[in-house]
Amino acid sequence: MTRTVSRRAVLAGGVALAATPLLGSHAHCAATPAQELKVDAGAGRWPLVGGSGPMTEVWCYGNRVPGPELRVQQGQPARVLVRNDLPDETTVHWHGIRLPNAMDGVPGLTQRPIKPGETFIYEFTPPDAGTFWYHPHADSLRQLGRGMAGVLIVEEPQPIAVDRELVWMLADWRLTRDAQIAPGFGGMMDAAMAGRLGNTITINGAIPSDTPVKSGERIRLRLINSSLARMMALRFEGHRPVVVALDGQPCEPHVGERLLLGPAMRADLIIEMQGEPGNRYRVVDDFYPDLSYWLTELVYDAAPAATARRLDAPAALPRNPLPEPDLGSAERHDLTLQGGMMSGRGMMGGMMGMSGMGSGAPWAINGTSMTGDGHAGMAPLMTLKLGRSYVFTIRNDTAWWHPMHLHGHSFRVLTRNGSPVAYHQWMDTVPIAPKETVEIAFVADNPGDWMLHCHVADHQVSGMMTVLRVA
Ligand code: C2O
Ligand code: CU
Repeated sequence: MTRTVSRRAVLAGGVALAATPLLGSHAHCAATPAQELKVDAGAGRWPLVGGSGPMTEVWCYGNRVPGPELRVQQGQPARVLVRNDLPDETTVHWHGIRLPNAMDGVPGLTQRPIKPGETFIYEFTPPDAGTFWYHPHADSLRQLGRGMAGVLIVEEPQPIAVDRELVWMLADWRLTRDAQIAPGFGGMMDAAMAGRLGNTITINGAIPSDTPVKSGERIRLRLINSSLARMMALRFEGHRPVVVALDGQPCEPHVGERLLLGPAMRADLIIEMQGEPGNRYRVVDDFYPDLSYWLTELVYDAAPAATARRLDAPAALPRNPLPEPDLGSAERHDLTLQGGMMSGRGMMGGMMGMSGMGSGAPWAINGTSMTGDGHAGMAPLMTLKLGRSYVFTIRNDTAWWHPMHLHGHSFRVLTRNGSPVAYHQWMDTVPIAPKETVEIAFVADNPGDWMLHCHVADHQVSGMMTVLRVA
């Protein structure tokens, strides 16, 4: 099953990506031709550590890590053929895309898993432009942890005015000394604490090297944190990155001094390259205070600025057609995140909330632990009325961070610990600090059974997951 693919072979065209427009065969049919894409899921080898280091055995899409960058147009139908060449069942979840429930990729809940050798066709028309990503929703911990993830970009009809666009898919790997993915997924210590943190960070499937830039250029940087568990907080030394979108959804442009990026979260930044020609500036991740490291360095070309520095501030991105929740009439619900160990110090002594959960799973939402990745017969926690506005108050009663993701919808973040958030922001994955309470609001406008879960994969599969029905 393992395919041997050298990096060169991949770059020379081994990427299973065909952006051939499927021309309507019926001349009378005025529908826009679908954008047809193809992605194969399979085993492979990839030079994660680079240099003379060993190749890493991975599972991936299109024989590369990350998978092929898929680009589709906002509002245009897309078809993605996914072939499963893995020895296990899989599905693809198009994270953050508001699509029909049957295309959401949750095994058992929204589709039958794709068996080895089978192909499944995903069809959807992305309503929102932005930075999204795709990953399996079957045995997520291992499949995502072995490398299955790719960027999905929905392009705005009018490209925005920048000199260059960079896409950084960030990932965290737990590797052995010989650069292989460490076994032992789903251990209790990972599950009940921070999740499976790794020891190797990559940008676009490689240990980062320098990032060459030119003085005076304006760059759009799309960031995606595809880690199983690692929270990140990025600072760009000597620069003032302007956040223009979070989780694909445009926000009020504002300077992001320290950009919090939990697993599954995305941010679009506009960065004016105002550094000194010939200088180097670090991009630092200092989320874990004692474990800060620098991700890469922006290395300026020695030549003076070719372009005159722009004086205008970056403009806001065009709004996506998201329904604005009616806060006045919204129905309110409380969700409490429970469980986990009290701290990283005690062994099992600090487990809280275990009694009464019954299942023995370390995490729960409102007292119930749904485990795994999706299966038939998951009873919804509640049924939301189609078209109605909702406010959810999510209280994190644990000692750990949880990036909480809702499928099929984007929500507005209203408050944190009772204080309104500084910028009008939409998200599909909201990071919630230990003991923090967050209020979110959305219109339940997409019928179906939708998952709501923590995107720390260990937490999700060990109980921090539930299902909301919209009907
Ligand atoms: Cu990326 Cu169920 O999530
Ligand atoms: Cu969590």
